[in-house]
Amino acid sequence: MYPLPEGYFAPRDRWYIAAWSSEIGREPIERWILDEPVALYRKENGEAVALDGRCPHRSFPLGKSRLVGDNIQCGYHGLTFRPDGSCTQIPSQPNIPNVCRVRSFPLVEQWKWLWIWMGDPDLADESMIPSLEELALEGSSYTIASGGYSLVNARAMLLHDNLFDLTHIGYLHAPSFGSGGGALDTVPRVTQGDDWIDTQYVQLGVPMPDFHARLTGYEGLVDRYQGLKLYLPGLHVGGSAFYRPTGIENQKGELIGSVQVYHGITPATRHSTNYFFATGQTMTKDPAVCQATLDYAMRSIIPEDAFATQEIEEMIERSGGRPSEILLKADRACVMGRRLFEKMIAAEHARAISKEGAISKAAE
Ligand code: FES
Ligand SMILES: [Fe+2]
Repeated sequence: MYPLPEGYFAPRDRWYIAAWSSEIGREPIERWILDEPVALYRKENGEAVALDGRCPHRSFPLGKSRLVGDNIQCGYHGLTFRPDGSCTQIPSQPNIPNVCRVRSFPLVEQWKWLWIWMGDPDLADESMIPSLEELALEGSSYTIASGGYSLVNARAMLLHDNLFDLTHIGYLHAPSFGSGGGALDTVPRVTQGDDWIDTQYVQLGVPMPDFHARLTGYEGLVDRYQGLKLYLPGLHVGGSAFYRPTGIENQKGELIGSVQVYHGITPATRHSTNYFFATGQTMTKDPAVCQATLDYAMRSIIPEDAFATQEIEEMIERSGGRPSEILLKADRACVMGRRLFEKMIAAEHARAISKEGAISKAAE
């Protein structure tokens, strides 16, 4: 589906952020991920569990059911499932058929995120999750505020497009942090690997944007380095760093302040997206100040991105699903990013076909 080829939605054999750790407890929740309902809860020992959120009997949501010890009991007719997905009880009959089970998804709790693997469980490899050092969540000078969540009614690729092209800051975000010198009207440099893409913008000797002047207490000219790295398929990490100007690229003057952002993009359905957001900064170690910045972003900045992508989602649907578009120089990351997604999904399709071939051969 747009902007990917027909039949392409999202990679499955990858880790996605399913939830903030703090969201999951002894009360199950339902969250849609990759177009499937998932029930998330914790066992009595605190370990998190992710099960197929649809009861195999009559499709009642298990995420809206209740826990009995470590098991989940469907709120409709009481079928009860263990954390591994096997059924332990059908109240109305003594025997439990083999088909009566739900899928249990691999889940990894790292930092404050729960990462889920919705694809082939044999391929789930924890080392594919970016390390905390790599993400500057450990061993860095950032004080981080976490826990931002929003369900956006737009397909995930529109959120990726949005983050691949930060030239929208001066316009879409004019009411919030894009005004007063906030615009990033320049062509970015883009680099990529097999499963990452990095987009960097450099502006030398420009006025400090108003929003960042308020955060840093510095007004005057700066050298501004800003960008985002996407760890495919769903985590954009980066930020904006402001230095006393040298006027020479990569000869950085004294650091005035740096703001870090984390955008977790997990497809919910084909037309909606779970958006996880956190932010960090070097200017203060006061958690209340960092929390205030995160609250501001969740109240004023992320809703602007949600507004744009939701409007575009509607426009796409009303115009037949595949709108025409022109591509600008600033869209380089967008084009390269789409290709990386396409390649990843094509490889999964090829793996699935060869696995099917091997199974039917073994059955002959
Ligand atoms: S729908 Fe779950 S037990 Fe009937
Ligand atoms: Fe934005």
